[in-house]
Amino acid sequence: MSDLHERVRELADRLDRAHPMQILEAAAAEHGEHVAIAFSGAEDVILLEYLRQAERTCRVFTLDTGRLHPETHRFIARVEARYGLRIEARFPDHVAVEALVRRKGLFSFLSDGHEECCGIRKVEPLRRQLAELSGWITGQRRDQSPGTRSRLAVVELDEAHRGRDGRPLLKWNPLAARTSTEVWDAIRAFDVPHNELHDRGFVSIGCEPCTRSILPGQHEREGRWWWEQADKKECGLHEGNLAGLDRPADR
Ligand code: ADX
Ligand code: SF4
Repeated sequence: MSDLHERVRELADRLDRAHPMQILEAAAAEHGEHVAIAFSGAEDVILLEYLRQAERTCRVFTLDTGRLHPETHRFIARVEARYGLRIEARFPDHVAVEALVRRKGLFSFLSDGHEECCGIRKVEPLRRQLAELSGWITGQRRDQSPGTRSRLAVVELDEAHRGRDGRPLLKWNPLAARTSTEVWDAIRAFDVPHNELHDRGFVSIGCEPCTRSILPGQHEREGRWWWEQADKKECGLHEGNLAGLDRPADR
């Protein structure tokens, strides 16, 4: 195991049960200004609330795929107003989008899987964003996807991407050990804005054509890419979760 792997492992063990704010502080101490929160317009707002309470700030970015719900755009604007910040929007390369849509139409993912469209609309813009950073922070949780996230660490080496100057990148998941119920209790207790789609049965929210509301008792991941198998439901943002599936459980 390399020194960096060892250091990340040590951080992950030490912070595993820490409060999300302590994890955000550790990320700031590690990366200074070269760290940013990936904001998807769902429950990530709770990270901004913890920062506000601690009178801290952080860069925030969102990947605007061009297929988001209008409700998500309105939510992003409300969050910007509440926290007095600009969420940096990254857009896909228009040449690549035009080529895909001309070749395969607007709904190719329904017949040949979401990887190609997600690759163009999310992963490539993420790659450009991460090239400016040495760490990034997500709102991922272990309970979000039994198929792919059950062993998610609070901090991990992101081996799928490269950071500034081509250097390795750390990925922080301050909410990894929190449950959906805990996050929603905090959203209500602090009265923070939420995406109005949540009031209409949507739980996990991504792009409009690949997200649907779910019924009581259904797992939240059933509302995403429902025509695909549970262990394929990652789009390349969190590719490491798929790589980890054949690792023995070690925590
Ligand atoms: S996804 O890979 O299936 O789309 P999910 O919706 O579960 O991800 O969100 C997990 C975390 O990934 C979010 O909390 C957020 O940090 C990040 N994320 C997901 N989608 C985006 C996006 N469009 N822009 C920025 N970050 C995102
Ligand atoms: Fe394309 Fe769906 Fe992926 Fe959005 S979630 S980038 S629409 S395949």
